[in-house]
Amino acid sequence: METLPIKKFVLETYGCQMNTADSELVEGILLNLGLEKTQDLHDADAIFLNTCAIRENAEVKVHSRLGNLHKIKRSKPHLIIGVLGCMAQNLKDDLLKNKPYVDIILGPDSYRNIPKLMNRHLTEKKSIVDTKLSRYEVYEDMFPSRGDTFNAWVSIMRGCDKFCSFCIVPFTRGRERSRSVDSVVTEVKKAVDQGFVEITLLGQNVNSYKHEKQSFADLLLAVSDIPGVKRIRYTSPHPQDINVELLEVMASRTNICNYVHFPMQSGSNELLKRMNRTYTREHFYYMAEKIREIMPNCGLSTDIIVGFPGETDEQFRETLDLMEKIKFNTAFTFKYSSRPYTRAEQFSDQISEQVKKDRLDEMLILQRKHTLELNLQKVGNFEQVLIEKESKKSADHWAGRTDSNEWVIVEKNHSKIKDIIPVEITEASGVILRGKEITGA
Ligand code: 5AD
Ligand code: SF4
Repeated sequence: METLPIKKFVLETYGCQMNTADSELVEGILLNLGLEKTQDLHDADAIFLNTCAIRENAEVKVHSRLGNLHKIKRSKPHLIIGVLGCMAQNLKDDLLKNKPYVDIILGPDSYRNIPKLMNRHLTEKKSIVDTKLSRYEVYEDMFPSRGDTFNAWVSIMRGCDKFCSFCIVPFTRGRERSRSVDSVVTEVKKAVDQGFVEITLLGQNVNSYKHEKQSFADLLLAVSDIPGVKRIRYTSPHPQDINVELLEVMASRTNICNYVHFPMQSGSNELLKRMNRTYTREHFYYMAEKIREIMPNCGLSTDIIVGFPGETDEQFRETLDLMEKIKFNTAFTFKYSSRPYTRAEQFSDQISEQVKKDRLDEMLILQRKHTLELNLQKVGNFEQVLIEKESKKSADHWAGRTDSNEWVIVEKNHSKIKDIIPVEITEASGVILRGKEITGA
């Protein structure tokens, strides 16, 4: 294995859970090289930013961080600055031209090459770029370095072939490819041996997982069979690939959580079509009902974009109307952001920032109402809560999640992190529930 004349590194992660998982992979590679992890920018010989390009403001954050790092590098010229992930893929030319102090630019399929490329940079003393996308790379044989928590992120597929017209992901992360069931099972068993109790299966399009003849539902069953796996979650699915077979598998196993992230994006058929979302408002509503019919206590969250090009007030109201009909437990709502390479970038009827902001505000108010309404219905219920961490507001309380993904605050009593405890919900305020542990007495 190569040895590098650098000792300590900082690795910062921006964006989605897929990036968190990728950073754990990169961290594993760097630790294997004998490097030490630090949080202190001034103590590091190499600083890597694992970046996100999904919306413009994600990029703005990284540009500003790079500005800070440039200042540090002025007084410490040997510092290596690396940009990894989606922005590296998307902005390599811009970075090379306008930020020559960035030494290493690596796309999401190039992490295996980090040792080689760091060496090349140190020998050739110039910026090194590797942003080739692969049709095969799934990092199947590599074990990530996981933090000491209860949940292990396990990436099962990479890339996206859906090409929603607003989304940059198919361009930054390339084509869909899946790992074998065996390699996922081996990784999950190892995570369980290391003490992890919850497994979150990850992919840009997690439920279009397909390996040889095995589907996402088959994979869920295989992971569910592994002793010691207390909870399984997955994200992010596409509504088109949620089917009754998958829902029935979820309902049949107690360790597969009753929670579906179900990204709606819009409630207008015309907009869904322009977004290339491949489903209609009616089908989406039908499937949301099916989810709750098959798993009555199922938590349902969504993603919605406001201000997509050409969105009329009437179409926006159709989205609010569908939210009203379905009532999601949680919604992640975004102002449309025009992204390079995408089809929607070409649309001439872009919406003004002010209109986007007003629509987002209105949507947030409606969603808050729904979240509270659904949470209030939980008061008096008994839920199984997995203790995840100490409550931010009180050292005497734990924060944990229900099977259906609501946060609950409970008194510590004798429980420990990673325990699943029975809790009676006593109070709902906004997104947070409070509860009382049911003890045997
Ligand atoms: N603008 C705003 N939101 C976007 N998303 C993806 N691309 C864009 C964009 N260009 C949102 C979608 C997706 C979530 C991960 O991010 O709602 O589901
Ligand atoms: Fe983007 Fe659509 Fe693929 Fe999700 S399914 S990553 S929104 S293109």
